[in-house]
Amino acid sequence: MDKNSALQQTFEHSRTYFPSLGDSYKGHKILFMDNSAGAQVSSFVIDRVKDYYIHRNAQKGTIFKRTAEMQERIIEARQMAADFIGAADHSEIAFGLNATSFFHHFAHHLGRDLKAGDHIIITEADHHANVDPWLELAERGIVVDVWTVDTNGDLDYEQYEQLLQNKPKIVAAGWASNATGTIHDMERLTRMAHNAGALVVADGVQAASHLAIDVKKAGVDFAAFSTYKIFGPHMGFCYVNRENLARLDGWRIQKELTESAYFFEVGSQNHEGIEGFIGSMEYLAQLSADAAGNGLDIDMTPLRDGRQARKEFAGAMYWAHLYEKQLSAYFLARLQEIDGVVLYGKTADYVDERLPVFSFNIKGFETDKLGHALDAAGVEARTGNYLAINLMKRLADEFGGSALRISLVHYNTVEEIDRFFAILKRIVGK
Ligand SMILES: Cc1ncc(COP(=O)(O)O)c(C=O)c1O
Repeated sequence: MDKNSALQQTFEHSRTYFPSLGDSYKGHKILFMDNSAGAQVSSFVIDRVKDYYIHRNAQKGTIFKRTAEMQERIIEARQMAADFIGAADHSEIAFGLNATSFFHHFAHHLGRDLKAGDHIIITEADHHANVDPWLELAERGIVVDVWTVDTNGDLDYEQYEQLLQNKPKIVAAGWASNATGTIHDMERLTRMAHNAGALVVADGVQAASHLAIDVKKAGVDFAAFSTYKIFGPHMGFCYVNRENLARLDGWRIQKELTESAYFFEVGSQNHEGIEGFIGSMEYLAQLSADAAGNGLDIDMTPLRDGRQARKEFAGAMYWAHLYEKQLSAYFLARLQEIDGVVLYGKTADYVDERLPVFSFNIKGFETDKLGHALDAAGVEARTGNYLAINLMKRLADEFGGSALRISLVHYNTVEEIDRFFAILKRIVGK
């Protein structure tokens, strides 16, 4: 089997692990195309959560066996998260409510070291999860500079160089845009920030649903992720480069935990969700095995180190990205068949630099009405600004800063894209 057929076979089969993907609504087979907001979960996750409730439903900090087992699972889950993103080990990971709350924690802790007149950089491209926590620091006289984008939504590196001359303390930036799907060059961004003496806080949320993330290769100092966008339960986790732990000297409830990122896990955690996260990583390992069964060998993936679990989890994402590029090329080619489309972000010539996340408007059609018409036909997609408020204001001003977003992941198929366009053409009369 050639590589493209192997990718297609692997990922079309991946749907069979997701019980929710066969759903119908009001007689329509649902096309789930809102994956950037949150992905579906596989039966690996559902089974893990159920198993937790039956066998390990206990609170931490006591002596009985079920508690000990539950605590071991949490460490195992942190190690899996570390393998997934390429962190050193579990001590650089903490689970928590979601990515947004981690950005607030980062701003709170790192902000303690800042004084009036210090600069930090945020971007015009980011989701407000990694914008608003930093803007709050402006109330204390900290200068928040905005790194802007050009008319395609690409970050303007010339302006970045100028902003770095202010010797900012922190650069807060996204790994990939949840609006345009554009992948940002985190290695370049971080190298430039470090040369200027700044720490980098990365929003890895969108990128992690699509790419083999490597926090060490990118060099970022802090990052946050949403587990529910990587085929797991509604939660998040963060990465803290161990070398930076000493900087986080606030809010330490248990002194003995200050050697690790765990101190972010204050209070009781979502144990069932954390076990569900283990299921999401088991799913990725299964995908790697399926890929290998179709002749795609994880040893062919360019991963930094040889840890088997890393190879399996990030390996699955490596193959997923290759497959998703095929979906992007196909989707963008079909989009050209619709008159009056205004696409925000990279065109089909740049599928290497984008995720299969497509925001667009159609001239003559109100965005929200389009969304409702699609919903009535069984297409679950999103309209609005998806909290990339500044970016959408910049790109889609003539449509009130709003657009229709179709966001796909590796379990979507060419056949679904065809069904989507058949529906869209019916709605817009072409
Ligand atoms: C790029 C990006 N960052 C952050 C978030 C917020 O994540 P959470 O819900 O985990 O706080 C989202 C959610 O859509 C997102 O797309």
